[in-house]
Amino acid sequence: MKQLDQLREFMRRDRVFDFVAEERFPFTSGVRPVRPGVVDISKGPILYIENMTVSFDGFKAINDLTLYINHGELRCIIGPNGAGKTTMMDCITGKTRPDSGTVFYGQTMDLTRMSEYEIAQVGIGRKFQKPTVFPHHTVFENLELALYTDKSVWPTLIAKLSGEQRDHIDEVLRIIGLIDQVHRRAGLLSHGQTQWLEIGMLLMQKPLLLLVDEPVAGMTHQESERTAELLTSLAEEHSVVVVEHDMDFVRSLARTVTVLHEGRVLAEGSMDQVQNDPKVIEVYLGETAH
Ligand SMILES: Nc1ncnc2c1ncn2[C@@H]1O[C@H](COP(=O)(O)OP(=O)(O)OP(=O)(O)O)[C@@H](O)[C@H]1O
Ligand SMILES: [Mg+2]
Repeated sequence: MKQLDQLREFMRRDRVFDFVAEERFPFTSGVRPVRPGVVDISKGPILYIENMTVSFDGFKAINDLTLYINHGELRCIIGPNGAGKTTMMDCITGKTRPDSGTVFYGQTMDLTRMSEYEIAQVGIGRKFQKPTVFPHHTVFENLELALYTDKSVWPTLIAKLSGEQRDHIDEVLRIIGLIDQVHRRAGLLSHGQTQWLEIGMLLMQKPLLLLVDEPVAGMTHQESERTAELLTSLAEEHSVVVVEHDMDFVRSLARTVTVLHEGRVLAEGSMDQVQNDPKVIEVYLGETAH
């Protein structure tokens, strides 16, 4: 426990009086513009979740959760059904508000005080399991549309891409491996390709932190392998948090694994470490071994 306290003290965000913070980062007012790119990662972590609790009708889906994600890290989150993994992501993206505790993006941005839109604007992208691509548009058009967060300006902006925007689309096409499909309608893509396109659409916004919930569900083995490569290639430039049940997939990412159970961290370490942790075997991996 003492070590944990020391770690917390080491990673402590600078104490900033509220009125100073609001002057420097005026996103909380609701009328002043968000300033993208001001996330302060100088102490290492890009995300600080501290003592967070979320209750649904008295049931604690998240129970005093403390978790840090470093900038450029690829972190896997595993845990049995109902452990609170998706609820944790909902709190990061502003969909759900915690009852208590804090969620900070870098040292100074309090995500619990920002709207979902503002949180997306400062560089946090989330991939849901259900694809949200536009099936009647081509791969290229989907990426193009993803450039614009203000959907009302779509029709007037089409065909007015700058060279820089085109380059960015080309780069994303290369990263997601869909260059050959660029003129294909998204509705005709395979399940795996659709998931990659959706990741590509997130990348169009140049996010710093990507949250990915169960990316390989329903994928073939080959598609899962390709997805592992894709997510691995995104780390360093982006911080990536992946929730997944598929243990082979998690192992193939070979990164730090956090095990959630009953809304808090049960274990953390390499896949080998957590897989051999008796607590984990008892509540989680033991279940699947039966
Ligand atoms: N909006 C809600 N209202 C009531 N209960 C909720 C709500 N959202 C989640 N829960 C409950 O909170 C707990 C945690 O759910 P959550 O979806 O975060 O788990 P999870 O770890 O993502 O599980 P899974 O692996 O099945 O996706 C569950 O018991 C769930 O039933
Ligand atoms: Mg879930």
